[in-house]
Amino acid sequence: MKPFAILYSSNTGFTERYAKMLGEKTGLPVFSVENPPEKGTAIIYMGWLMAGSVFGYKKAAKNYDVKAVIGTSLAPTGTLVETIRKNCGVPEDFPVFNVQAGMDHSKLKGGYGFGIKMLTKFMAKKKNRTAEENAMLELLIKGGDYVSEENLAGIIEWYNNL
Ligand SMILES: Cc1cc2nc3c(=O)[nH]c(=O)nc-3n(C[C@H](O)[C@H](O)[C@H](O)COP(=O)(O)O)c2cc1C
Repeated sequence: MKPFAILYSSNTGFTERYAKMLGEKTGLPVFSVENPPEKGTAIIYMGWLMAGSVFGYKKAAKNYDVKAVIGTSLAPTGTLVETIRKNCGVPEDFPVFNVQAGMDHSKLKGGYGFGIKMLTKFMAKKKNRTAEENAMLELLIKGGDYVSEENLAGIIEWYNNL
C-alpha cells in the first residue's frame, strides 16, 4: 500500500521545506507533528538527524503505519542510511533515506544550540577526518543551506516504483 501522507518534525525549518517539496512532487498531503493526521495513517516520516537518529521517528512508528523514514542531515545525501537503520531499529528491507539539509544557528532553539556546540567540538577534535567529515564540520561552524530537489531524487524514484 502506498503512503497517504507525509508527516514531519522540524526544529529550524529545513525538514519542513523538504517535506513540502516532497509533497509537491508526490501530490501527498503534508502534516507537521504539531498538527498531525489521524493515527494509523500510512505515512512517510521525515525528521531531522539528532546524534545519528531521526528525531521523532520512534513515536511516529508507534502511532502510524510508517512506510519510509527520511532524515534531514548535515551529512551528505545517502551517507547515513545504515546509521539511521541501526539507530532507529528498522529492518533491512525498510526504506531509509537521508538528505543533506543545512544549519541555521540563528533558528536553533534552547538546548539544541548547546548540542551543536558539543557536536562541533567533537568533530573539531576528531583526528583523520574524512572529506565528508570536514565538510560537515565546516557546515557546523559556518552554517549553510543545501536543500535541493536533486537530494530528493532517490526518494521520488522509490515512491514512483511503489
Ligand atoms: C543537537 C543536534 C544534533 C545533530 N546531530 C546530527 C547528526 O548526528 N548528523 C547530522 O548529519 N546532522 C545532525 N544535526 C543537524 C540537523 O539534523 C540538521 O541541521 C537538520 O537539517 C535540521 O533540520 P530542521 O531545520 O528541520 O530542524 C544535528 C543538529 C542538532 C541541533
